[in-house]
Amino acid sequence: MNPEQTLVLIKPDGVQRGLIGEIISRFERKGLKLVGLKLLKLPRDRADQLYAPHQGKFFYDYLIQFMTSTPIVAVALEGQNAIELVRLVNGATRPVESQPGSIRGDFSIDITHNVVHASDSPENAERELNILFDPSELFDYPRIDEVILYSPEL
Ligand code: CMP
Repeated sequence: MNPEQTLVLIKPDGVQRGLIGEIISRFERKGLKLVGLKLLKLPRDRADQLYAPHQGKFFYDYLIQFMTSTPIVAVALEGQNAIELVRLVNGATRPVESQPGSIRGDFSIDITHNVVHASDSPENAERELNILFDPSELFDYPRIDEVILYSPEL
């Protein structure tokens, strides 16, 4: 097993609609390990860092205003191919492309209010985890079902 870590944010709409448990549960059931978790109101400077690749785009100010409006949940997840798998569980960014069964496909209808964010590459996963978590807030521990999730002998 070659584990990756990635960042998920449950956006203000996901928190306000009472979807925190539902969303985290989908990642847990998939077999991804929760290695960091916090509820916070995203400060403006950290929102700017997080969305730096989108600076200058027409939707940037609206996105930042939304993401800093009310609390979000930051979730650090670990597992084999975690970055790609989490994006699959989240679903496509455009509402008309997110498949039913994915989080966005089941719960969102708008491209800004799209419930979740996830890192899209190993470089961005490392960058984004550093913006949201201090290293001391990320935990290294075995999950009891790892043997059945990954073992080649079973
Ligand atoms: P997220 O995964 O948080 O990454 C960047 C966000 O920008 C994306 O989800 C959308 O919420 C938002 N976004 C991307 N493209 C557009 C667009 N064309 N119009 C409005 N918002 C967008």
